[in-house]
Amino acid sequence: MSATSSPTLSSLPTDPWRLVETRWDADANLLRETLFALGNGHIGTRGTYDEAWQGEPDASMEGTYVNGFYDTEAIRYPENAYGFARINEFMLNLPNAKGVEIAIDGERFSLAGGVIVAYERSLDFREGVLVRTVEWKSPAGRRVRIVAKRLVSLSRSAILAQSVAVTPLDADATVEFVTTLNSQVRGSEESFDPRLGSGASARALSTVETTATPGRSVLVSRTRNSGLTLRIETLAGVAGGSTPECTASEDGGVLSQRFRVVAKAGEAVTLEKMTAIVTSRDAPVSELAAQAAGALEGARAVGFEGLADEQRTRLAAFWEKADIEIEGDDALSQGLHFNLYHLFQSIGRDGRTNIAAKGLTGEGYEGHSFWDTEIYVLPVFLRTLPDLARAVLQHRIGYLDKARARARDLGHVRGALYPWRTITGEECSAYFPAGTAQYHINADIAFAIKQYVEATGDDTLLTDGGAELVFETARVWADLAHLVEDSYHIDEVTGPDEYTALVNNNFYTNVMAKTHVGFAAEVAGWMEREKPEAFAKLYERLDLTADEVAHWSDVSDRLRLPYDEARGIHAQDDAFLSRKVWDFAGTPAENYPLLLHYHPLVIYRHQVCKQADVVLALFLRGDLFPKAIKRRDFDYYEAITTHDSSLSTCIHSIIAAEVGLNERAYEFFMDTARMDIDNTHGNTFHGVHTAAMGGTWMSVVHGFAGLRALNGELHFAPTLPKAWSRYRFRLVDHGRTLEVAVSAAGVEFRLVEGEAIRLFHRGEPIDLSAAEPMRSVPLPRAFDRKPFKAVVFDLDGVITDTARFHHLAWKRLADTLNIGFDEDLAESLKGIDRRMSLRMILDKGGVTLEPAEFDRLADMKNVWYKELIGTMTRNDLLPGALETLKTVRAAGLKVGLASVSQNAPAILERLGIADMFDAVVDARLLKRGKPDPEIFLKAAAQLGVDPADCLGVEDAVAGVASIKGAGMPALGIGRSSVLTEADAVIPGLDAFVLSDYLA
Ligand code: G6P
Ligand code: MG
Repeated sequence: MSATSSPTLSSLPTDPWRLVETRWDADANLLRETLFALGNGHIGTRGTYDEAWQGEPDASMEGTYVNGFYDTEAIRYPENAYGFARINEFMLNLPNAKGVEIAIDGERFSLAGGVIVAYERSLDFREGVLVRTVEWKSPAGRRVRIVAKRLVSLSRSAILAQSVAVTPLDADATVEFVTTLNSQVRGSEESFDPRLGSGASARALSTVETTATPGRSVLVSRTRNSGLTLRIETLAGVAGGSTPECTASEDGGVLSQRFRVVAKAGEAVTLEKMTAIVTSRDAPVSELAAQAAGALEGARAVGFEGLADEQRTRLAAFWEKADIEIEGDDALSQGLHFNLYHLFQSIGRDGRTNIAAKGLTGEGYEGHSFWDTEIYVLPVFLRTLPDLARAVLQHRIGYLDKARARARDLGHVRGALYPWRTITGEECSAYFPAGTAQYHINADIAFAIKQYVEATGDDTLLTDGGAELVFETARVWADLAHLVEDSYHIDEVTGPDEYTALVNNNFYTNVMAKTHVGFAAEVAGWMEREKPEAFAKLYERLDLTADEVAHWSDVSDRLRLPYDEARGIHAQDDAFLSRKVWDFAGTPAENYPLLLHYHPLVIYRHQVCKQADVVLALFLRGDLFPKAIKRRDFDYYEAITTHDSSLSTCIHSIIAAEVGLNERAYEFFMDTARMDIDNTHGNTFHGVHTAAMGGTWMSVVHGFAGLRALNGELHFAPTLPKAWSRYRFRLVDHGRTLEVAVSAAGVEFRLVEGEAIRLFHRGEPIDLSAAEPMRSVPLPRAFDRKPFKAVVFDLDGVITDTARFHHLAWKRLADTLNIGFDEDLAESLKGIDRRMSLRMILDKGGVTLEPAEFDRLADMKNVWYKELIGTMTRNDLLPGALETLKTVRAAGLKVGLASVSQNAPAILERLGIADMFDAVVDARLLKRGKPDPEIFLKAAAQLGVDPADCLGVEDAVAGVASIKGAGMPALGIGRSSVLTEADAVIPGLDAFVLSDYLA
């Protein structure tokens, strides 16, 4: 399915480092307010204008937020039930402190009146300052230039700063600034769309104290139900022009500072306004006044330009780690930079806050955080600024007690269950089938902790509460998992795909739960060994037993992962594949997203996915599944996925890249990369999509560059999308910084800073150190697909692992002759017939033998070899071999065997696959073994197929040479650095996907 897109508004100019708007566009205003939002992880403020909005009231949404500052309301259910979420937490829209009205000789500046002579609004992602430059002619004909700048300090969490410079262009003029702090808050409208806000902000705050003295305004408010206090304090002053007159006033909840100055023609007068926002979430109420005053003092001391300098420095450090450069596509670079910039602006840094689904840019989803954090956003910070990832995980740990309480609500006598959506740890989801039932949140958080520890080596997170969280949340899985025959089942949960609810054995959930309980057992073992004291305490406090830990391992080993044999794919859950497939052809485009047009029951009854579910598991635990299954899973699920969730296309992009569907990968990536800039989901005015923003980074790093971290090792498999000439990114691992650059010339891996490292490129080790910081490797050649008529396989090392038995037998022989037998010799013997192999071993040892003795030794090796293979059964087929033979036959291709082993026919019998071959070359009739082409030519002749129409499959250098000599394309099994002549190389037949080769 391709993603549905909603109409987009007029697009902005393309600039890789800036978001620029070159004309005032009232229709796009709401959207632009989101895009131009500023934040620092603590404060966020929408890109509204300083002067009051003069257009349609619905075309603007004033919004300033503090991460984690919320109020609550009881959730009312006309039909209640036990354990339903009781209260909703919602992020509060705060009083607006940004107001700056301007009047020139008594005429009030407004974009809606007069003439806009020139206009530009821009946000440079390296500067972190929103700048609007307007040349305006008033209705009475006075021309002025206004340069309004705004920043939310990335270095001072409480500070929002503004600078507004006004220059009369024709004649001296009286300039009036009125800076306001407005306690009257409008909440976002209540909406039918469940993804938007509930509109409660307006009722939530009451004013406790106000002060307005010349230059300074203070507003203290309190939330109605959550009992939080907010202090907003502003300081303003004017520079340039005549000595300003300043008066302060308070009227109808608006605190104003009025400045009046006379400005000379051509000379600017500049208002600087600093705002401090502090709340009782950060400090006791009694300290808020001092905190705000201190923050303002510090900000005023450096001034706006000083704050702007700090901003630049902070962002330079961020981009130093996080920049992704794409040569050949500016629109894309802009999308990537914009996304990363917003993530950096939105993520909580204080260990007590999270990142909301919409960041701090709007009230969509009411400021709630979901699993988006752990699965979509933290992967970015883990590899760029891991301290921020740690801070967010620390915040989750802080809410462990609430998760414990929630687990009791759900009937778990022990353990902890994290809420599906929340601000401060309370479950806020009023629709449990797509909320609380998504138990996978527990495993997602544990997974992020695992990833963090593996990527940084910082195990203090575990001893600082991480282990406790992992154990407590694992207990819920152990509680749910029940044995059915020989495997554990988990019933009645909902997976990531929200178009399917309340199912047994959701594939994603079980994969992640398996990972989670396995990790919990591992952490317990590690802690017992390495941190015995802390472990003993925790053990006692949690009343943990060795039996319980052993049970976790057992659940991990035997948790059911539903697989459909007939289709050769994973089942999304036990019932999924027997449901009716959604009628996509009969669904008009305007009925997407389905959630706004069909009752959930209608959707639940069908095979239709809102987002990646199985496909996401294939990414996160790709090490568990062979590529061939991944490919079939992808094909199946992609066809029934609407991507109605913004969390979907990035994951599909990653797996498409892995299974070799490069163009699909690129299309999905493009759907994600500019989602907000182009408003492709049609709802960016309610806030940016932070998960998709993280997803774009993942699509590049994990998708195109193929990064997978396995047991703390970094594995890459880069490809280069056609449209790009080069891409480059950096990556943090265990405190070191790496750089990866990919172009047609190859892949460059560079150690920018830190200790030596071994990483892997398509399975090949790459060592980087201070002495040798750079290594380049070529990109794999693209395989020229052809309409093959037959596939000719080698046996040993391809279909069955007898290569190791040959190896053992030859080694035994070499040992008796006292000839050194090393890996190189072993490799060179692969595919070589018995007598030739013996000759090569004797040559190596410089030994010559009488013919009779030569024959005796060759026979002896064969006796040993036969002993070794004597016990072989069908189970000795290599992974993917049987599937491959079946697939090739099912596609109507002939199958041949080209093995020089005289034991080959007997082995085929033992493996029970003799009848799957249309031709088996009799090795005894060969004049020359591999690398001579004779054997592959004979196989082709026996099959009655032109050699050029055959694909040869081999694990040995000699075998690949034989295939190429016969004029066939060669598929190597093993490592590309060894099988350099092969046209393509895969690690094993479990990675064989016929469509990668067949035109
Ligand atoms: C295969 C193996 C070789 C082996 C040859 C002869 O090509 O890769 O290692 O030497 O067969 O096998 P045989 O069973 O006839 O000794
Ligand atoms: Mg072989």
